[in-house]
Amino acid sequence: MEIFKIIKLDKEQPQHLYVQLYKSIKEFILEGKLQEGDRLPPVRKMADMMGINNVTVVKAYEILEQEGIVYKRVGSGTYIAPQTSPKINNTDMENIADKEVYKSTSLIEQGQIKIDENMINFASATPSAELFPVEDFKKVLNEVLDRDKGYAFGYQEGQGYYPLRQILSSYIDQYDIIAEAENIQIISGAQQGIDIVAKALLNYGDYVIIESPSYTGAMAAFQSRGARIIDIPLDKDGLNLELLEKKIITHHPKLLYVMPNFQNPTGVTYSKNKKEKLLEICNKYGVFIMEDDYLSELNYYKEDNTTLKCLDTNEIVIYIKSFSKIFMPGLRLGFLIIPSNLHGKLLRAKHTSDISTSGLLQRALELYLKRGIWQQHLQYMEGKYKERFEKMCRCIEIYMPTEVEYTLPRGGVNFWFKLPTNCSSHNLYEMAVKRNIVFAPGNLFYLNNNYNEYFRLSIAAVNPSEIEAGMKELGEIIKNYIELQVKPICRNSSIKPIL
Ligand SMILES: Cc1ncc(COP(=O)(O)O)c(C=O)c1O
Repeated sequence: MEIFKIIKLDKEQPQHLYVQLYKSIKEFILEGKLQEGDRLPPVRKMADMMGINNVTVVKAYEILEQEGIVYKRVGSGTYIAPQTSPKINNTDMENIADKEVYKSTSLIEQGQIKIDENMINFASATPSAELFPVEDFKKVLNEVLDRDKGYAFGYQEGQGYYPLRQILSSYIDQYDIIAEAENIQIISGAQQGIDIVAKALLNYGDYVIIESPSYTGAMAAFQSRGARIIDIPLDKDGLNLELLEKKIITHHPKLLYVMPNFQNPTGVTYSKNKKEKLLEICNKYGVFIMEDDYLSELNYYKEDNTTLKCLDTNEIVIYIKSFSKIFMPGLRLGFLIIPSNLHGKLLRAKHTSDISTSGLLQRALELYLKRGIWQQHLQYMEGKYKERFEKMCRCIEIYMPTEVEYTLPRGGVNFWFKLPTNCSSHNLYEMAVKRNIVFAPGNLFYLNNNYNEYFRLSIAAVNPSEIEAGMKELGEIIKNYIELQVKPICRNSSIKPIL
């Protein structure tokens, strides 16, 4: 406790107090003054010691936790985590000193991108607002309010509004997934689903296996539990199963997190054979699979998009469905299908997360599904996305320089590219932003933020004419960039590679 007394926070400094506290603790770790397993003072004690309020301490601890530098033990406190990965280094500290955490780390490192109105947005995998069925949803909302009055605003049952679970059970029947209302858990978005599964299943130090690359939000959720993450490369038809089995044998992971259809960010779909083998392996070694089905509906050419859940005869798959990409992300609605033996654990994790998902919105969604408006909307979205998807495929063929590697996906909204090895998608990003185009640099989707040569383009938030204009422009930018990188010696000495 003594060590913390030397921390001096200065209200006169432009830097927020929570940033100052965060930095001081991080510095102690860097200098070896705090070590793995050391406990941070409880929030109130730290606040008293520093003469600041509790919220300031909570914020500082939260950032440390999000960075995986500390972890919480329920009912016990906050502890310093093992500093194995490059979570913390001097460069970080310098950056932080220069700018400010969260204001400071560039938005893109936080997985966020600032998009001005006139920009062409290939970064976002979320539908643009003009595709939202606002009028139809308004009608069902009003109807629910007239019908249920104040009941619509009470706490909803933690597992979810029963009639909604019932109708979802018949909805997924058309995808050959058999699940009773009792096995469905309503969640406030898939991100919450991943988070509560992590909370329910993982203890500090447990192993989780993910695809490499993978969805950033899932990695963050596992890290926040203090889990150890192993990433396994994705082949063109799914995970490298040989490596998977080896890692399972050596590390005994509790969980495997996968997106078998139109994976984010690569667009890869697993072959049926790989899906079956994956289930076999996980079943053999007793590993739960978290299947994140964020958009298997966008299967434009009606190819095999079997879910693992529908092949799961041993109840090892925890299935997560998000409505964000095919409906409206701001509704924060989704559902889990859970193996019977995990019911209690997941319900408790959901309860500690937000007690229940909005009852009003669950009721409105139930009516929306019951009226059949959902199917119409799904068809509409599929049509819109398919138009964009095909436009994108054509534009890639025309405008993408031949040095850029890619495999076209067969559905979904994401396209994944590899620049020549000496190019960096971050540099490309800087150049594209100047020309009003944004996309997602690939390193964001890797555990250790490496693999700079990849990038992801999404078609969810761009209309066909933006795709045409954006791809033409981006193609030129990439072509010029590659030329400067690959042939710098042939150029006039006054021209320098942009680095
Ligand atoms: C693969 C994947 N899973 C889950 C989510 C989170 O979805 P939701 O908005 O339902 O929380 C996203 C969001 O981009 C995603 O890409």
